[in-house]
Amino acid sequence: MSEHQLPPRPILKWAGGKNALIPQYAPHFPSGEAYRRYFEPFLGGAALFFFLQPERSFLFDLNEALIEVYTTIRDDVEGVITALEAHQNNRDYFYMVRALDPLALPPAERAARFIFLNRTCYNGLYRVNRRGQFNVPFGRYKNPTICDKAGLRAASRVLRNAHLEVADFAIVLSLAEPGDLIYFDPPYEPLSPTSSFTSYTSSGFARDDQRRLAETYRALDSRGCLLMLSNSSAPLIYDLYSGFYIHEISARRAINSKADGRGPITELLITNFCPGDAPAQA
Ligand SMILES: C[S@@+](CC[C@H](N)C(=O)[O-])C[C@H]1O[C@@H](n2cnc3c(N)ncnc32)[C@H](O)[C@@H]1O
Repeated sequence: MSEHQLPPRPILKWAGGKNALIPQYAPHFPSGEAYRRYFEPFLGGAALFFFLQPERSFLFDLNEALIEVYTTIRDDVEGVITALEAHQNNRDYFYMVRALDPLALPPAERAARFIFLNRTCYNGLYRVNRRGQFNVPFGRYKNPTICDKAGLRAASRVLRNAHLEVADFAIVLSLAEPGDLIYFDPPYEPLSPTSSFTSYTSSGFARDDQRRLAETYRALDSRGCLLMLSNSSAPLIYDLYSGFYIHEISARRAINSKADGRGPITELLITNFCPGDAPAQA
């Protein structure tokens, strides 16, 4: 298979990445002809976007550095590849690159630095200190893929018509129209007070945000949009989305869950339609 035919895969490791769940999600996807445009307001690793490869898409995240990486891959993938090829996987080099001020670098080098740190840091985590400096330690991988040229070029092709913007998820209310497909993958509501992993950005994602999101979902449902949303199986989530289709999905535990109880846990995929049906009314 030539490089040009490779299906794109996520180019970043991201907490909550959905690549492994796609086989379980697939029966619930609408067919490509069933929706007009695709919206993904909690983009992260963008697993669904890369799987669905929509023609027209609107992608958002609050993480500015992340959105800039995708924008640069879309607009200058060869520049990113050239800059990435210069990187190496060793501890001292990692800390030297981590200490660089990203704003002092040109965009392609800044994107390459982000990808390099993501592929070589501990667990692919993204965490910044109060001054906004990336502070995840070296990951000690033997042979991480730092520069996946074919993957980056495939990602760039899928991104070519994408609108990318740093924004809160509520922006979809001002853009989405009937027949658009919107996939929400927010930071999850913790199952218990100790299992919270919500610090994707310095702002976190609180219970009020979960409520605000459910209101957004209901408003878009009334508008005639096709909706999919992932979340934990916390009681609050069953309550907030009662009346919609709630599918239980078997998933591996989140990155920082305790070592005990490594078995699968139940997560939810909530849709307002069944493939082939008209949207459900809540
Ligand atoms: C669970 S991750 C998304 C994972 C992604 N779907 C994947 O497959 O890799 C959640 C994302 O939401 C972003 N986020 C957090 N709060 C947000 C908000 N209020 N509006 C938009 N994005 C937000 C975080 O920066 C993070 O990238």
